[in-house]
Amino acid sequence: MTTPAPLSQDALKTLVGQAALHYVEPGSIVGVGTGSTVNKFIDALATIKERIRGAVSSSEASTERLRALGIPVLEANEVQGLPVYIDGADEIDGRGHMVKGGGAALTREKIVAALAERFVCIADESKLVDTLGSFPLPVEVIPMASAHIARRFEALGGRPSVRLKADGTPLVTDNGQHLLDVAGLAITDPLAFEAEVNQWPGVVTVGVFAQHKASVCLLGTREGVRTLS
Ligand code: 5RP
Repeated sequence: MTTPAPLSQDALKTLVGQAALHYVEPGSIVGVGTGSTVNKFIDALATIKERIRGAVSSSEASTERLRALGIPVLEANEVQGLPVYIDGADEIDGRGHMVKGGGAALTREKIVAALAERFVCIADESKLVDTLGSFPLPVEVIPMASAHIARRFEALGGRPSVRLKADGTPLVTDNGQHLLDVAGLAITDPLAFEAEVNQWPGVVTVGVFAQHKASVCLLGTREGVRTLS
């Protein structure tokens, strides 16, 4: 008998994207994150679009995909709250703390997450870590403060760099700001780290999600979807 080939990372993303439908309440407005895993969720959501009122999106990219599939997109200011926010992560630890922002959408992701009662994280198993920080930490900054903030991260042992586009110029976020990616950190106390960096002048959003951590994580593994809560 031949052993079936292991599922690819893309297949694991599809698996968790579909599994997240279980958390979508009929007749509700759904908070939608950003990224390749969320794109799988958006595709799955389109199959039940008649059963929801619409979505609040965390990026221009997700808004475009939602609308292209016929899912109404509402502004965050039009809703009082959301039952659930579904998004991916660049890293997640066993307690639901995450690093996010690899797709440059961290600020709007944190805003939509704050509106939601539950954060359902969808990720393939490569994202599960013991300690956050191996993935360079994204931090959205006001451009005039970026050098000063970079020095503060260097003082913590980090190696910050401004995220660049293919043409070598700084990437500009959906909010018109710049991003630092900080390598070399070991974030052992995510809650305290997030609170500290949030206070630095010029920081718009730090990509540690500890105050708004995942309530549940659907992790795509070779054995199927594992639920961490
Ligand atoms: C975007 C994010 C994404 O959720 C994160 O980068 C994971 O993306 P992917 O599902 O493509 O691995 O935080 O800002």
